[in-house]
Amino acid sequence: MRILVTGGAGFIGSNLVDRLLADGHEVVVADDLSSGSNRAPRAEFHQIDVRDPALAEAADGAEVICHLAAQISVRASVADPLTDARVNVEGTLNVLEAARAKKVRKVVFASSVARYGRPETIPVPGNTPARPMSPYAASKVSAEAYLSAYRALYGIEYTTLVLSNVFGPRQSPGGEAGVVAIFTDALLGGRPTVLFGDGSQTRDYVYVDDVVDAFTRACGPRGDGEVFNIGTGAQTSDRALHTLIAAAAGVPDEPDLAPARLGDLPAMAVDPRPAFDGLGWRPEHDLASALKLTVDWVRNAQ
Ligand SMILES: NC(=O)c1ccc[n+]([C@@H]2O[C@H](COP(=O)([O-])OP(=O)(O)OC[C@H]3O[C@@H](n4cnc5c(N)ncnc54)[C@H](O)[C@@H]3O)[C@@H](O)[C@H]2O)c1
Repeated sequence: MRILVTGGAGFIGSNLVDRLLADGHEVVVADDLSSGSNRAPRAEFHQIDVRDPALAEAADGAEVICHLAAQISVRASVADPLTDARVNVEGTLNVLEAARAKKVRKVVFASSVARYGRPETIPVPGNTPARPMSPYAASKVSAEAYLSAYRALYGIEYTTLVLSNVFGPRQSPGGEAGVVAIFTDALLGGRPTVLFGDGSQTRDYVYVDDVVDAFTRACGPRGDGEVFNIGTGAQTSDRALHTLIAAAAGVPDEPDLAPARLGDLPAMAVDPRPAFDGLGWRPEHDLASALKLTVDWVRNAQ
């Protein structure tokens, strides 16, 4: 199958491209290289902004578009909501226009658990309504709404994957949310690490290979018109995560403490079970061994 991956030079996108190539697919990447830098030699590459109408040329002959190109920072979206909306809303609309022009069967979309805002129930059940609390979350939910509209109007199928905290090889330690990458980079580099608050804040960490597996399944016949949580359902505290990464790195587990940051969610995890039935998907990696794989990758890359 010919598959277009937007954001295919980024952390999750480039891991997806490698997997799709290994599975024997023909892969086209569209990425403006604004943050991503991973270029798979065997994929056709278009350096292009996801808002550029010429994106349709990259979509030519594609059966599926995996749409991952995005402005990914919540803080940047608060500071500059218009740029966030231009990339994430207009960009998704342009992907859908390309899909319409080139008769693409389906778009698989990378949404975020940010869509749930401050959820009442954790793990957040599937089919929980969106309640965005940041421009980033609002832009993701808006993009989801356009997917629904284009399915109704033009029969373009979609699957939305609501990703929890993804980690693994190629994640940048420069971002705000890649806590695993930030801790790993600092601990291996012999630099101090900081825990905010009392370290009890929790997140649902899912390994990038498992996320990529969900995308590959959604590229097939399953999950049309559905929204699936992609996480593990388990909560891991910042303190416990630090302990696991320090153990994997073989260094002392001695983070510095700093005051809690205003607005940080105290807890998050999503219930992935609807994706078990809907996509035949399950997260296969346990946290400790996936962290070890990640630490080993960073050590080799440094
Ligand atoms: N990493 C996570 O934990 C996580 C969680 C939830 C959702 N997501 C979503 O998954 C997707 C991939 O995230 P990631 O962590 O791999 O981020 P990333 O920054 O590594 O990848 C994003 C890619 O998009 C490209 N890009 C950005 N703006 C573009 C534009 N205007 N035109 C073309 N390309 C552009 C970047 O160059 C980069 O290669 C994003 O949509 C993100 O919102 C990620």
